[in-house]
Amino acid sequence: DHISSCPEILPATMAGIARAAWLLQQGKLVAFGTETVYGLGADATQSLAVQRLYQAKGRPAYNPLISHFPSANVAFRYGKPSALAKALADAFWPGPLTLILPLQPNSPISPLALAHLATIAVRVPDVEAIQTLLSLTDRPIVAPSANPSGRISPTTSAHVLNTLGDRVDAILDTGPARIGVESSIVDVSSEQAYLLRPGGISLEELNAASQGLGRILPAQKPEQNAMSAPSSIIAPGQLTSHYAPTLPVRLNATHIQPNEAQLAFGRPLPGGRVTYNLSPSGSLAEAARNLFSALHDLDKEGQSQNVNGIAVMPIPHTQLGLAINDRLKRAAAPKENHEPA
Ligand code: TXA
Ligand code: MG
Repeated sequence: DHISSCPEILPATMAGIARAAWLLQQGKLVAFGTETVYGLGADATQSLAVQRLYQAKGRPAYNPLISHFPSANVAFRYGKPSALAKALADAFWPGPLTLILPLQPNSPISPLALAHLATIAVRVPDVEAIQTLLSLTDRPIVAPSANPSGRISPTTSAHVLNTLGDRVDAILDTGPARIGVESSIVDVSSEQAYLLRPGGISLEELNAASQGLGRILPAQKPEQNAMSAPSSIIAPGQLTSHYAPTLPVRLNATHIQPNEAQLAFGRPLPGGRVTYNLSPSGSLAEAARNLFSALHDLDKEGQSQNVNGIAVMPIPHTQLGLAINDRLKRAAAPKENHEPA
């Protein structure tokens, strides 16, 4: 199919949203902003569109996609919810929560989108323009984060344009993402529920809403070699190295080398060639919102200023801090474990 060299940039007006919906129905790739990060959307029922999506991202075919819906009612036509799944959906949808559910029979979703699994990841995003888009298309829309596989996730339309611009047909500009880290993924497809990916909703909040319907445990993740399909599929996409800037990342820095860039939290450390502060006041929500933008900026600026690495101050490991530290750990992971990009 045709890969446009320059995507249409659509405003989040009724006309822009309608155009985006029409393009999705035509099997085109349309990036759009959710409250977490920008996603790269495709019609989940068109195998060709889904195949182009994997190609555009350079994403391995064994890594399944999240399907997006305008409401829980529609989502549950595709995935079969347990009582716990319903309680979580009630508490957090629309919002930064993805549920892994058993696939309903006779689903029209392309098996490519599911990496041939018998489960489906479903989510209802909390942006009004996107709910309108999803209602108008009237199809399940798969949307992985709109970055080349293994690289930093995008939180603005400019990030998408700069990293995938030549491989998407359109970008619906809904402004900067409000939360800034991806959705929390909870596997509720079997008896025991697991948090597969920490994200916009903390494990404490999830368990507070589970109402005696079962405790959600943090997932035990086997170490995975990114170059081969994981042998045990717990969270197929949770590869060790991910969210990677081109500059090396050093975590829990208590001092900064002269030729490092500093990613600060709270009061910055002395030194460093460039400093980006995630949150001067020490707010985890603000830090999450700024995280990917900071990595994008430091990566670009650092290269032009002969910086040889990014040093990151410690981030408290509570609530949203778990999602932030998860992304930072993967950004710092050795690149020989890198996914093919
Ligand atoms: O916030 C988000 O979730 C964003 C926005 C755009 O909605 N999307 C996103 O998609 O982060 P992506 O593709 O970057 O991450 C999806 C994750 C992957 O780690 C994938 O392995 C996992 O969801 N996943 C999808 N289907 C799954 C399934 N059936 N079982 C287990 N994990 C699944
Ligand atoms: Mg991603």
